[in-house]
Amino acid sequence: MSANIAEVERRRAAAKLGGGQKRIDAQHAKGRLTARERLEVLLDEDSFEEIDMYVEHNCVDFGMAEQHIPGDGVVTGSGTINGRLVYVFSQDFTVFGGSLSERHAEKICKVMDAAMKVGAPVIGLNDSGGARIQEGVASLGGYAEVFQRNVMASGVIPQLSLIMGPCAGGAVYSPSMTDFIFMVEDSSYMFVTGPEVVKTVTNEVVTQEELGGASTHTVKSGVADLACENDIVALLQARDFMDFLPASNREDVPERPTNDPWDRLEESLDTIIPASANQPYDMHEVIRKTVDEGEFFEIQPKHAANIICGFGRVEGRTVGVVANQPMVLAGVLDIDSSKKAARFVRFCDAFNIPIVTLVDVPGFLPGTAQEHNGIIKHGAKLLFAYAEATVPKITVITRKAYGGAYDVMASKHLRGDLNYAWPTAEIAVMGAKGAVEIIFRQDRDNPEKIAEKTKEYEDRFANPFVAASKGFIDEVIMPHSTRKRIALGLRKLRNKELANPWKKHDNIPL
Ligand code: HXC
Repeated sequence: MSANIAEVERRRAAAKLGGGQKRIDAQHAKGRLTARERLEVLLDEDSFEEIDMYVEHNCVDFGMAEQHIPGDGVVTGSGTINGRLVYVFSQDFTVFGGSLSERHAEKICKVMDAAMKVGAPVIGLNDSGGARIQEGVASLGGYAEVFQRNVMASGVIPQLSLIMGPCAGGAVYSPSMTDFIFMVEDSSYMFVTGPEVVKTVTNEVVTQEELGGASTHTVKSGVADLACENDIVALLQARDFMDFLPASNREDVPERPTNDPWDRLEESLDTIIPASANQPYDMHEVIRKTVDEGEFFEIQPKHAANIICGFGRVEGRTVGVVANQPMVLAGVLDIDSSKKAARFVRFCDAFNIPIVTLVDVPGFLPGTAQEHNGIIKHGAKLLFAYAEATVPKITVITRKAYGGAYDVMASKHLRGDLNYAWPTAEIAVMGAKGAVEIIFRQDRDNPEKIAEKTKEYEDRFANPFVAASKGFIDEVIMPHSTRKRIALGLRKLRNKELANPWKKHDNIPL
């Protein structure tokens, strides 16, 4: 018996050593943790239960028959984050560069299938040289098996990807189909083709970091949601993040006790709107003063910052917040912000997370760059996402709600459940100056008349009461009572029932 136990211990120790001490040291020298060390930080202490520790590859080509490392380059299993079950896989770069073999893929698929069966999130820690080159098409098949599961799991269980090393070629498509991607700065990259191929094909000279590093994807491309300083920060952020999410689409949002009174009044919000309509203010302040304890987990903070998306809590329960940001491009809707917010709204809707929308939007961004790149179709994404969403939707217009953007931003007409406006709200087809310049074009050389008409237009429309008189706004609320009104609204809407007509799926303008 004791010999058997010793044998298990020996095998476990061998598996835990992965590709060996030398490669572990090399991993550390790059400032990276190993696959198992990462899981230790991500999961609650002693909660990780590994499976498939002894799985080995089945390749005999190119000398692989002689090289067998238990685990085959990925550590898989389940554990808990603050007591809640998650399934995980963590690619081990010390074993064949974390490359994906047929068996490696089977291990990932096994945890994905288990997570789907019980309704628990999957978190993937990616650190891989891509397809296991020695295996050829078997590896490609393995990727596709993972891709198929990513798609089946989409909207059923939350999927989070952490990119903690290389992620290149077709390998990028698994993370890209998960709900959120966190990257580690200066140590991770994602691209479909690397700098060398880029140089050959397009003559561009570019570094890995410029092509697909964390800042590229969290600022420019919007492929990733968060850039984190190092492995530890990324893993700790992932822990905090998971606390906001339900375990699956069958579950309600998690609840966390809070000492923040639901009816806390914020007098400072009564004066946050500047006297001049062209002066910005920071919408983050409104968000922080509305959610529990000012705690807000923003996603894509540096990409399309003219719209803010993220998670907070009200009375301990998760809400998704979407808010125009007057500090950036005056909070205008453009291609990037529409895409960013549309995807976020759809995530919230898929996972029963109520949506709070704070509106201060001067309209859609004009210009050839926007039109030629398809603002019509991309703007429609956000419109579509809000219109199809059946979760509780509470909207507060703080200042401008102009034109089509008024309709888009969770208006009453898109089945907004509670549509509030601050007394400073201006709900109109466009700003007064622009409107008068069009209606009174013949008087454009008469500044007095233009000024008079602008004032008239402002008096008529630069307020929430015309919309309120039509029932488009349910109530004009005091800014200081915003949190209280939202909390009350969310309470009322907890048992909301609303279903869209049966369809195989919709045809959102992609
Ligand atoms: C097998 C691999 C491997 C791979 C790395 N290794 N990538 N083994 N298949 N894809 C092995 C190396 O041989 C080496 O083994 C160890 O992992 C570490 O690799 P290094 O090159 O020493 O590390 P580093 O200098 O950090 O460079 C990392 C790297 C580089 C940039 C990822 O290894 C690299 O370019 N690898 C090839 C990437 C690639 O072309 N992959 C296929 C892409 S196509 P030893 O024994 O020396 O430690 C693809 C298609 C997917 O992925 C399609 C899906 C649909």
